[in-house]
Amino acid sequence: MLKAKNQAWEHILEIARRVHSETPALSTFAPWPTDITIAPQAVPQEQPETAINAVKAYGASHPLIKAVQDHADDLVWKQSYRDDDLGRDFMDHYGYIELFGPDGMFISHQCRGFIGYWGAGLIYPMHQHAAEEIYLVLEGSVTFEGQDQAPMLYRKGQTRRHSAYEPHAMRIGEKGFMTFALWRGKDMAQPPRLMV
Ligand SMILES: [Fe+2]
Repeated sequence: MLKAKNQAWEHILEIARRVHSETPALSTFAPWPTDITIAPQAVPQEQPETAINAVKAYGASHPLIKAVQDHADDLVWKQSYRDDDLGRDFMDHYGYIELFGPDGMFISHQCRGFIGYWGAGLIYPMHQHAAEEIYLVLEGSVTFEGQDQAPMLYRKGQTRRHSAYEPHAMRIGEKGFMTFALWRGKDMAQPPRLMV
Protein backbone atom coordinates (compact mmCIF):
# COMPACT_ATOMS: atom_id res chain seq x y z
CA MET A 1 0.00 0.00 0.00
CA LEU A 2 2.76 2.40 1.02
CA LYS A 3 4.78 1.32 -2.01
CA ALA A 4 1.89 2.08 -4.35
CA LYS A 5 1.46 5.51 -2.74
CA ASN A 6 5.16 6.28 -3.07
CA GLN A 7 5.07 5.26 -6.73
CA ALA A 8 2.11 7.60 -7.31
CA TRP A 9 3.95 10.49 -5.64
CA GLU A 10 7.08 9.79 -7.66
CA HIS A 11 5.03 9.64 -10.85
CA ILE A 12 3.60 13.11 -10.14
CA LEU A 13 7.07 14.42 -9.24
CA GLU A 14 8.47 13.09 -12.53
CA ILE A 15 5.75 14.78 -14.61
CA ALA A 16 6.31 18.03 -12.68
CA ARG A 17 10.04 17.78 -13.37
CA ARG A 18 9.28 17.41 -17.09
CA VAL A 19 6.94 20.43 -17.06
CA HIS A 20 9.65 22.42 -15.28
CA SER A 21 12.33 21.48 -17.84
CA GLU A 22 10.00 22.21 -20.79
CA THR A 23 8.93 25.63 -19.46
CA PRO A 24 11.83 28.10 -19.72
CA ALA A 25 10.15 30.63 -17.41
CA LEU A 26 10.08 28.02 -14.63
CA SER A 27 13.60 26.70 -15.14
CA THR A 28 14.91 30.26 -15.30
CA PHE A 29 13.09 31.17 -12.08
CA ALA A 30 14.69 28.30 -10.14
CA PRO A 31 16.63 25.17 -11.10
CA TRP A 32 15.04 21.83 -10.29
CA PRO A 33 15.95 21.07 -6.67
CA THR A 34 18.89 18.72 -6.21
CA ASP A 35 18.17 17.96 -2.54
CA ILE A 36 14.75 16.29 -2.91
CA THR A 37 14.22 13.41 -0.51
CA ILE A 38 11.25 11.11 -0.21
CA ALA A 39 9.43 11.55 3.05
CA PRO A 40 6.96 8.66 3.31
CA GLN A 41 4.19 9.92 5.51
CA ALA A 42 0.58 9.21 6.30
CA VAL A 43 -2.09 11.31 4.63
CA PRO A 44 -3.56 13.43 7.47
CA GLN A 45 -7.01 12.40 8.64
CA GLU A 46 -8.35 15.91 8.20
CA GLN A 47 -8.37 16.49 4.45
CA PRO A 48 -10.59 18.98 2.58
CA GLU A 49 -12.85 16.33 1.07
CA THR A 50 -15.21 18.66 -0.78
CA ALA A 51 -12.31 20.50 -2.40
CA ILE A 52 -10.58 17.21 -3.28
CA ASN A 53 -13.77 16.02 -4.97
CA ALA A 54 -13.90 19.29 -6.92
CA VAL A 55 -10.33 18.70 -8.11
CA LYS A 56 -11.24 15.16 -9.18
CA ALA A 57 -14.26 16.44 -11.11
CA TYR A 58 -12.34 19.23 -12.85
CA GLY A 59 -12.27 18.91 -16.63
CA ALA A 60 -8.64 18.98 -17.70
CA SER A 61 -6.33 17.32 -20.18
CA HIS A 62 -2.93 18.33 -18.81
CA PRO A 63 -0.91 15.21 -17.80
CA LEU A 64 0.16 16.78 -14.50
CA ILE A 65 -3.45 17.43 -13.56
CA LYS A 66 -4.54 13.97 -14.71
CA ALA A 67 -1.88 12.38 -12.50
CA VAL A 68 -2.98 14.48 -9.51
CA GLN A 69 -6.64 13.59 -10.14
CA ASP A 70 -5.88 9.86 -10.50
CA HIS A 71 -4.14 9.80 -7.09
CA ALA A 72 -5.98 12.65 -5.36
CA ASP A 73 -7.00 10.53 -2.35
CA ASP A 74 -3.39 9.56 -1.64
CA LEU A 75 -1.94 13.08 -1.66
CA VAL A 76 -1.47 15.57 1.18
CA TRP A 77 -3.87 18.46 0.53
CA LYS A 78 -3.55 21.82 2.24
CA GLN A 79 -5.39 25.10 2.56
CA SER A 80 -3.59 28.21 3.78
CA TYR A 81 -6.76 29.69 5.30
CA ARG A 82 -9.74 28.86 7.47
CA ASP A 83 -13.45 29.19 6.75
CA ASP A 84 -13.48 32.42 8.80
CA ASP A 85 -10.94 34.02 6.48
CA LEU A 86 -12.49 33.46 3.07
CA GLY A 87 -15.83 31.71 3.57
CA ARG A 88 -17.14 28.19 3.11
CA ASP A 89 -17.69 28.44 -0.65
CA PHE A 90 -14.07 29.44 -1.22
CA MET A 91 -12.79 26.61 0.99
CA ASP A 92 -14.96 24.04 -0.80
CA HIS A 93 -13.39 24.94 -4.15
CA TYR A 94 -9.76 25.56 -3.26
CA GLY A 95 -6.80 23.43 -2.26
CA TYR A 96 -3.22 22.62 -3.08
CA ILE A 97 -0.48 20.09 -2.58
CA GLU A 98 3.04 21.08 -1.64
CA LEU A 99 4.73 18.58 -3.92
CA PHE A 100 8.18 19.54 -2.69
CA GLY A 101 9.43 22.03 -0.14
CA PRO A 102 10.31 22.37 3.55
CA ASP A 103 6.91 20.90 4.52
CA GLY A 104 6.18 19.09 1.28
CA MET A 105 5.28 15.56 0.27
CA PHE A 106 8.91 15.49 -0.83
CA ILE A 107 11.36 17.52 1.24
CA SER A 108 13.47 20.23 -0.37
CA HIS A 109 15.02 23.30 1.22
CA GLN A 110 16.00 24.85 -2.11
CA CYS A 111 12.59 25.59 -3.61
CA ARG A 112 8.90 24.90 -3.04
CA GLY A 113 6.63 23.45 -5.73
CA PHE A 114 2.84 23.54 -5.45
CA ILE A 115 -0.04 22.25 -7.56
CA GLY A 116 -3.11 24.31 -6.75
CA TYR A 117 -6.78 24.46 -7.68
CA TRP A 118 -9.32 27.28 -7.49
CA GLY A 119 -12.91 26.89 -8.67
CA ALA A 120 -14.71 28.99 -11.28
CA GLY A 121 -15.52 32.56 -10.29
CA LEU A 122 -13.66 32.61 -6.97
CA ILE A 123 -11.99 35.79 -5.83
CA TYR A 124 -8.76 35.39 -3.86
CA PRO A 125 -8.34 38.80 -2.23
CA MET A 126 -5.14 40.82 -2.08
CA HIS A 127 -2.41 38.93 -0.24
CA GLN A 128 1.37 38.78 0.00
CA HIS A 129 4.18 36.50 1.10
CA ALA A 130 7.90 36.61 1.70
CA ALA A 131 8.69 34.13 -1.07
CA GLU A 132 9.25 35.10 -4.68
CA GLU A 133 6.74 33.26 -6.81
CA ILE A 134 5.93 32.08 -10.31
CA TYR A 135 2.63 30.59 -11.47
CA LEU A 136 2.25 28.45 -14.59
CA VAL A 137 -1.37 28.17 -15.75
CA LEU A 138 -1.94 24.45 -16.34
CA GLU A 139 -5.66 24.78 -17.09
CA GLY A 140 -8.36 27.45 -17.06
CA SER A 141 -7.65 31.12 -16.61
CA VAL A 142 -7.03 33.74 -13.96
CA THR A 143 -6.91 37.51 -13.83
CA PHE A 144 -4.13 38.81 -11.59
CA GLU A 145 -4.43 42.18 -9.98
CA GLY A 146 -1.54 44.08 -8.41
CA GLN A 147 -1.54 47.33 -6.50
CA ASP A 148 -0.15 49.62 -9.19
CA GLN A 149 -0.96 47.83 -12.42
CA ALA A 150 -3.95 47.06 -14.59
CA PRO A 151 -5.53 43.60 -14.15
CA MET A 152 -4.10 41.03 -16.59
CA LEU A 153 -5.66 37.81 -17.85
CA TYR A 154 -3.52 34.66 -17.98
CA ARG A 155 -4.42 31.48 -19.85
CA LYS A 156 -3.05 27.96 -20.20
CA GLY A 157 0.72 27.93 -20.70
CA GLN A 158 1.32 31.48 -19.50
CA THR A 159 3.36 32.38 -16.44
CA ARG A 160 3.14 35.18 -13.90
CA ARG A 161 5.83 36.24 -11.43
CA HIS A 162 5.61 38.06 -8.12
CA SER A 163 8.53 39.45 -6.16
CA ALA A 164 8.86 39.13 -2.38
CA TYR A 165 5.94 40.79 -0.55
CA GLU A 166 4.40 42.00 -3.84
CA PRO A 167 0.64 42.33 -3.21
CA HIS A 168 -1.55 40.35 -5.60
CA ALA A 169 -5.15 39.23 -5.93
CA MET A 170 -6.73 36.64 -8.25
CA ARG A 171 -10.06 36.50 -10.03
CA ILE A 172 -10.65 32.97 -11.29
CA GLY A 173 -12.13 32.52 -14.76
CA GLU A 174 -15.27 30.63 -15.66
CA LYS A 175 -13.38 27.37 -16.24
CA GLY A 176 -11.57 27.45 -12.91
CA PHE A 177 -7.80 27.51 -12.58
CA MET A 178 -5.10 24.94 -11.89
CA THR A 179 -1.47 25.91 -11.52
CA PHE A 180 2.01 24.58 -10.98
CA ALA A 181 3.71 27.26 -8.89
CA LEU A 182 7.22 27.67 -7.49
CA TRP A 183 8.40 29.65 -4.49
CA ARG A 184 12.00 30.60 -3.79
CA GLY A 185 13.93 32.78 -1.34
CA LYS A 186 15.31 32.46 2.15
CA ASP A 187 11.93 33.04 3.81
CA MET A 188 9.98 30.76 1.48
CA ALA A 189 8.63 28.69 4.37
CA GLN A 190 6.50 31.61 5.58
CA PRO A 191 2.79 31.36 4.67
CA PRO A 192 0.83 33.91 2.64
CA ARG A 193 -1.09 36.65 4.49
CA LEU A 194 -4.32 38.32 3.47
CA MET A 195 -4.07 42.11 3.34
CA VAL A 196 -7.72 42.82 4.14
FE1 LIG B 1 1.07 34.26 -4.37
